[in-house]
Amino acid sequence: MALSRPSMRRLTSLKPSNLRPCTSFLQPRLIRRPSGVSWVPQRFTHSDITQQLREEWSSYNHFPQASSANQFVNGQTVTVHGFLSQRRISSKKLIFANVQVDNGPSIQVVSHSEPGDESNPPPGHEAHLALRALPLHSPVAVTGTVVSQKGDRDLSASSQRDVPGSFPKGVTHLEISLQNIQPLNAFPKDIIVSKGVQFPPSARHLQIRFDEALQARIRARPKIGHELRKSLTDLNFTEVETPILFKSTPEGAREFLVPTRRAGLAYALPQSPQQYKQILMSSGIRGYYQFARCFRDEDLRADRQPEFTQLDLEMSFATGQDVMRTVESIMKDLMKSLNSQFELVQSDIKERYPVPRRTPPSSDPSSNPWPVSDKPFPRITYEEAMSRFGVDKPDTRIPFEITPNVPLPESFTSMISPLPSPTIDTFLFTPTTTTTTTTSPSIRDTTTFVHTFLSTLPPALFSLNPNGQPAALIIDTSKPLMGLSPLSHSGFETITNLYPSLTSGDVIFFQARPPTPFSGGSTALGQIRTLLYSSAVTSGFLPPSHQFNFLWVQNFPMFTPNTETDPGQGGQSGFSATHHPFTAPLTDADVELMVTNPLAARADHYDLVLNGVELGGGSRRIHTAKMQEYVFREILKMSDKGVKQFSHLLEALRAGCPPHAGFALGFDRLCAVLTGTDSVRDVIAFPKSMKGEDLTVRSPGKITSEELGTYHLAFRPKEEKKKE
Ligand code: AMO
Repeated sequence: MALSRPSMRRLTSLKPSNLRPCTSFLQPRLIRRPSGVSWVPQRFTHSDITQQLREEWSSYNHFPQASSANQFVNGQTVTVHGFLSQRRISSKKLIFANVQVDNGPSIQVVSHSEPGDESNPPPGHEAHLALRALPLHSPVAVTGTVVSQKGDRDLSASSQRDVPGSFPKGVTHLEISLQNIQPLNAFPKDIIVSKGVQFPPSARHLQIRFDEALQARIRARPKIGHELRKSLTDLNFTEVETPILFKSTPEGAREFLVPTRRAGLAYALPQSPQQYKQILMSSGIRGYYQFARCFRDEDLRADRQPEFTQLDLEMSFATGQDVMRTVESIMKDLMKSLNSQFELVQSDIKERYPVPRRTPPSSDPSSNPWPVSDKPFPRITYEEAMSRFGVDKPDTRIPFEITPNVPLPESFTSMISPLPSPTIDTFLFTPTTTTTTTTSPSIRDTTTFVHTFLSTLPPALFSLNPNGQPAALIIDTSKPLMGLSPLSHSGFETITNLYPSLTSGDVIFFQARPPTPFSGGSTALGQIRTLLYSSAVTSGFLPPSHQFNFLWVQNFPMFTPNTETDPGQGGQSGFSATHHPFTAPLTDADVELMVTNPLAARADHYDLVLNGVELGGGSRRIHTAKMQEYVFREILKMSDKGVKQFSHLLEALRAGCPPHAGFALGFDRLCAVLTGTDSVRDVIAFPKSMKGEDLTVRSPGKITSEELGTYHLAFRPKEEKKKE
């Protein structure tokens, strides 16, 4: 049906609402109405439905069915549904337009019409006028004749499907000569869509619709999930769904509670399905997996969401080594399948994102965007990670490592640290030519870069660094002691022995720390090293790397001293399980240490790291009830009440539970790294903000007094809160 003139008028008379473009992501391009909402409540003059509303609804509500794959034959009449995305009015007589379909070929619509006699317009002329007038980005049903098709059409029976809305496999481009166009709703004029426009998070639907990279990643995510599911099914794993309404247990992270209508009773959302999956091991399931939603009420960062997805797995009659080999094999399969399905394209703003391959991958390994070696992933211990990289999730693409514990004269160490006998760690940063810079940066440019870098470090690493600010000395061979005079002669010798090939423009970073064993996730110098790398890449002082460097970090300390931020297990020992309290000690010697010197005991805990991102973590579990209860009571010093919260697990372990080990892959993080972004928000359709809010639907919402009543809750009086 072509659009009639009255309905065209209705389309263009739709009222502008509240959106106008502005300039950057931080200052969203859409200027909102003072109310802060883009939807404006309508005021109806009377409650009867008007003729106009009825007609408009009717014209949008009845539309021709979309054609199916087998109907796309040149010369045949077909109907496609999509968004009118581009239009080029070549002349009064000739219009080209594009209809954007989800996961389909690119579709060009061509309309050619001679105006002729106005009282007796030629067939198709109304459609021509409608195509010309319709607001871009409106959803439409287009009917026309197939003029041409491009691509390698798959002629197998399976791709000739008789399913409305399907397209022939392998066809990448379709040209359709317009017969009819019917709008199915109107895109408002006040939402301005220009190239590179960035919409605010509250308009997530517009972000997803118009940000190609975001859309591509959201499309790639289920494909990644599908490949992982396929690998695990092939390995005879069983997918089991575990409850979302769980109960509060001191597993490690802060939980979200779900009050119930029964006074005093609440569920807790699971921080992970850890306990259920261990119960499944006692239930006789040999290999379990699940794409599990997890909930943690913790401080948010680019790689953290309060609600996220894990690919969670567990294997019985297995050790940690078995799990690591299994995970490694799945990851390698995934990398290979990504290369066969996708290529990575680069946007105008140098953002890389995956799009489905239009041609088979080349046999040249250097053109593979997801290269992976057949060799086992490297493995290092926590100790080694902390001393060589200053972080427990090292990015091994960074071309410089830390030298720990460098003996330097007191005259220098006292200058850089208030600690009485600090340990000094160093690294050597050599700015190198990049693809955009053809010569090495000058000493002056490097000096400016380093000063700017240091001045923009977070206060905890610089001005408020309790161990003293980091020092950076720039090598200048024309200066006395090559610019290292603050080190005096003995320090100069130490450093030149350590770094024998120093040249002008090299920079040595120094950072003090207390002379105690490593604990926690990073040292100050480790963080500085990571930040320096990304800053150097962004500023052209180091070339970007598009490698994917997997790494296992293993043998973590079994326990970590308590901090104010982590709730831990709430025991009286002063420390908590580093991973979770179900993790087994690494060796028999560690069982002894657990008793005599718990903070020195190591656990059979392993993390998988990819380019500096902790992709996943797992461990071998304590599989006997007695040892588990011993750890709860005697090592972590949990109260009777605390231990009782785990009675279901102890019961399951007591029932002859086999040895078992497992792992959970942060699925959002995996999708983010593999699709070329640092932020998990770019692979989640409706992510939460840094404050944990969903800005699209505006959650969380305020609790009403009725709800408080229903759930037997009450606000605490203000005075009581103040006293705390
Ligand atoms: P862990 O706590 O290490 O282990 O979590 C496993 C992986 O989940 C991801 N992850 C997150 N992703 C996004 N937002 C978050 N807030 C978030 N927190 C964690 C990370 C992390 O490596 N039950 C154990 C697994 C096991 O032992 O089998 C667990 O949850 O990528």
